[in-house]
Amino acid sequence: DVVDVRSLTGKGLFTYDPGFVSTAATESKITYIDGDAGVLLHRGYPIEQLAENSDYLETCFLLLHGELPTAEEKENFLSTIKNHTMVHEQLSHFFNGFRRDAHPMAVMCGVVGALSAFYHDSLDIHDPKHRMISAHRLIAKMPTLAAMVYKYSIGQPFMYPRNDLSYSENFLHMMFNTPCEDKKVSPVLAKAMDRIFLLHADHEQNASTSTVRLAGSTGANPFACIAAGIAALWGPAHGGANEAVLRMLAEIGDESNIDKFIAKAKDKDDPFRLMGFGHRVYKNFDPRAKVMKQTCDEVLAELGMEDDPMLKIAMKLEKIATEDEYFVKRGLYPNVDFYSGIILKAIGIPTEMFTVIFATGRTPGWIAHWNEMISSDYRIGRPRQLYTGHTRRDYPAK
Ligand code: ACO
Repeated sequence: DVVDVRSLTGKGLFTYDPGFVSTAATESKITYIDGDAGVLLHRGYPIEQLAENSDYLETCFLLLHGELPTAEEKENFLSTIKNHTMVHEQLSHFFNGFRRDAHPMAVMCGVVGALSAFYHDSLDIHDPKHRMISAHRLIAKMPTLAAMVYKYSIGQPFMYPRNDLSYSENFLHMMFNTPCEDKKVSPVLAKAMDRIFLLHADHEQNASTSTVRLAGSTGANPFACIAAGIAALWGPAHGGANEAVLRMLAEIGDESNIDKFIAKAKDKDDPFRLMGFGHRVYKNFDPRAKVMKQTCDEVLAELGMEDDPMLKIAMKLEKIATEDEYFVKRGLYPNVDFYSGIILKAIGIPTEMFTVIFATGRTPGWIAHWNEMISSDYRIGRPRQLYTGHTRRDYPAK
């Protein structure tokens, strides 16, 4: 049942819903989730079918425009994105202001927000044409910036994008090739990367998307809004979970320690949680996790890593936790981050970069929601509060 409280505003009704568990902040036509049934649809299309038949950029088009592209539209979209892959040369100087050991998400918040300094047309948010140009710029430049963040952290020269490669091949090229060595990107790894981007492309009103919408509702420019989304995504309860999964696996260290960590996760006096398990909306299974698990198997086989000790711990943990009554009763299944962390580690992406990859994949979702909001009849987002502090009191007499 939906109670539309707008008509009751000013009539004494006040809703209190910490964590927005049952409060819709907006209507949306982009993504549908049924957490109990494990369903995720983008513009009506099931995520499993998109993962099987579509690719990341086509899914970006779908999220932005509401329909799958025709062959001609797809070709034009791909070529538009390729047109925007480079970043202004001056932006590369920004990196020098950061310590090389800075967390990549800290640098991403800065450089993505800084894009607004280069594109003044993005300030004209009420022109749909300019909104779409900003969308293309963001989708195209996120992998370039992500790879620059990584290269800066290891002291290697930045790699320019190669527009003869696909979106995901180009990303892996910019990450792992150098001016001295231009290796061909493995098609299996490029496909896995594309799937990771696709499976993260949107997830309705999660914390980072809601942050983008809230920032956007003030009329802020899209680059600033996406930088706000990146900041919100960073937390370990959201996008930072994939990084936390790997740290947890390293901490477990050996299969013989798994039971001890499961017991810790169940102990209510211990703040420890099994990272990569549970989801606010999916209390059955996360449909993205199923596809991700299949991709994970493909990648490990391609790299001959089935016997990697850390991956063995992950697989054993998955088995034990999904059979344990505590986790089953609470609907705590492995989420998308559990498997994406394992795949990214196998591909050779350093752990600190995991959330940056998530941010890159999530960009079309953020921008599609921002665009949907600005195209509609929206108001500034202004949550209320239930005040529990002191009642009025006088300043002590001197
Ligand atoms: N390990 C152990 N217990 C857990 C876990 C976990 N990972 N997750 C939830 N629980 C328990 C809670 O202690 C609580 O138990 P109780 O009912 O006995 O008190 C119950 O399950 C419900 O937990 P909530 O915190 O109320 O669930 P909520 O929906 O608020 O939180 C969240 C969801 C944040 C994802 C949580 O499951 C969690 O912290 N998971 C680990 C971090 C993680 O993997 N995050 C990624 C999310 S997916 C994404 O962002 C793409």
